[in-house]
Amino acid sequence: MNKLIFASSMIAVAAVLAGCGTGTRSAADYDKMTAEVIKASFVERGIAKLDRLEQDEARKACWQSEVSGKPLDPKVEKAIEEAALKTVKWPSDGKFLGDWKQGETIAQSGRGLTWSDDDKVVNGGNCYNCHQIDKKEISYGTLGPSLWNYGKIRGVTNPDDPAAKPIIEYTWAKIWNSRAFNACTKMPSAGHKGILTEQQIKHIMALLLDPKSPVNQ
Ligand code: HEC
Repeated sequence: MNKLIFASSMIAVAAVLAGCGTGTRSAADYDKMTAEVIKASFVERGIAKLDRLEQDEARKACWQSEVSGKPLDPKVEKAIEEAALKTVKWPSDGKFLGDWKQGETIAQSGRGLTWSDDDKVVNGGNCYNCHQIDKKEISYGTLGPSLWNYGKIRGVTNPDDPAAKPIIEYTWAKIWNSRAFNACTKMPSAGHKGILTEQQIKHIMALLLDPKSPVNQ
């Protein structure tokens, strides 16, 4: 953090604390204070604007549940997942799988969307940040499950076989809007949030599901 930003955030902390005086503070007060401190400590830079601090209703509900330690109301959870599933755009030409080689490059790439990128940078999927995928890649995060042998384990030997359809559709929807099957997931929604294009998602799908992909050997 540069000095100026640090100094201004400390002033904001002091101002928020002073402004609240004594007395009992509710959880909502603390939420408000936290939001103010966070807002005061970020500056807009390049393509990274302050609107990134705004949480949508689903994120708010998940965050509340996380900080309070109370599980999400099952009705709210279901509503979030159903709404997410409705946002999924299916491939316009009905073809789900592209080229696994390009998929590997996209899964490897963490480029795009940061303040030091401009809006012409082609975004990557950043998948290795959270998943093991190809065994050859030794650097990967473990927040998400391993996707090694993803298609093979799920019995996808011929992606054109109607029997493979449910798993292909599930995987597409998961990558498009990850909340569709897990309301409070930590996984980004590559399609819904416009991180990846339809074509890029097809390539990633091939990486995970094409029997010829090194992932399924
Ligand atoms: C910030 C971490 C993160 C990133 C980045 C991420 N994922 Fe995930 N992913 C997760 C987590 C955590 C889960 C398991 C929980 C869940 O389902 O939400 C998951 C689950 C999945 C699943 C479901 C696995 C199953 O067995 O049902 C698939 C498929 C998947 N991710 C693919 C991808 C792909 C492809 C990318 C890149 C475009 C990606 N993920 C990027 C965190 C991430």
